[in-house]
Amino acid sequence: MKILAIESSCDETSVAIVEDRTVLSNVIATQIEEHKIYGGVVPEIASRRHAEAISQVCEQALLDANLTYSDMDAVAVTFAPGLIGALLVGVNFAKGLALSLGVPLIPVHHLRSHIAANYIAHPDLKPPFLCLLVSGGNTVIAEVTDYTKFNILGGTQDDAAGECFDKTARCMGLPYPGGVNLDKIATVADTKKYPLPYPKVSTGKYDFSFSGLKTAVLNLVHNANQKGEEVDVPVVCATVRQRVCDMLLKNTFAAAEEFGYKKIVLAGGVSANSELRERFSKECEKRGLSLYYPPLKYCGDNAAMVGAQAIHEYLDGNTGDSSLNATATLPINYR
Ligand code: KG4
Repeated sequence: MKILAIESSCDETSVAIVEDRTVLSNVIATQIEEHKIYGGVVPEIASRRHAEAISQVCEQALLDANLTYSDMDAVAVTFAPGLIGALLVGVNFAKGLALSLGVPLIPVHHLRSHIAANYIAHPDLKPPFLCLLVSGGNTVIAEVTDYTKFNILGGTQDDAAGECFDKTARCMGLPYPGGVNLDKIATVADTKKYPLPYPKVSTGKYDFSFSGLKTAVLNLVHNANQKGEEVDVPVVCATVRQRVCDMLLKNTFAAAEEFGYKKIVLAGGVSANSELRERFSKECEKRGLSLYYPPLKYCGDNAAMVGAQAIHEYLDGNTGDSSLNATATLPINYR
């Protein structure tokens, strides 16, 4: 089944043609350069750029796959969660396309598609497994009991891990997207130099909190500025990265042990983090567990992962019609 998949939940307009786990094309028009000027994504600008780019990106995806609209068996689209104006561009484009082609419309949850990025790269990967999903807007530990069945064991009670990276990077003057640049500049350093906290959570044992760490870095940098002093940026970056990774590893492996998972899957933009990958690899090897994470090109937002999840949504009867709407927030286990 050839699926034309569309992604427009944030600042990347992407269209891919996917057949099962094979990506026939995957075109991404990124808006990063424009949002960089503002230090973060400006939702209004994002929607406008999606509206401008989507037709051309779609044409290019078909050209790259050497296919035409009439070869498509279904149209899939990210409908939630994300920036509402940005999502609406993709959803409306997908509705019109599915209607005109007379093929099924498949709504895909953004976080489910981040997990599915792993199916493209690892043909042997099948649920059940334990997933740590870390992105700019979400941090969740979930049991993936089947392709469309999720059980949330824990998640952030405030900021996402990516948000913590992005905001701390920004206050140290690093360009957007902060997480990527923080990871690049972080040195192997004395991570005890700055006493940055591990925020505590009083909710579930697999929950996270990152806002206290973010605030501590903001205070550290502002206090230093007021005194005319400079912080050691690479060391602060390394310390933040280490604290975040410590928390992510601790909860994920505790959950894996309690629920007896032998397969761990990392997903989302933050799964590109070098320390996270390295430490998860070492720990999984030590514990005799299998680790899966997406190749860097599928860690960020892209439509190939939407197509990879769409086939499973379709097989589960999850199709949409012309009343499909975009939703800004929606848990991964919504259905
Ligand atoms: O999954 P994603 O592309 O978008 C959302 O769906 O949220 O994730 C974007 C997030 C941003 O916060 C970005 O800074 C972070 O992923 N990120 C990283 C790295 N690469 C991307 N964070 C830490 N280290 C990285 N190497």
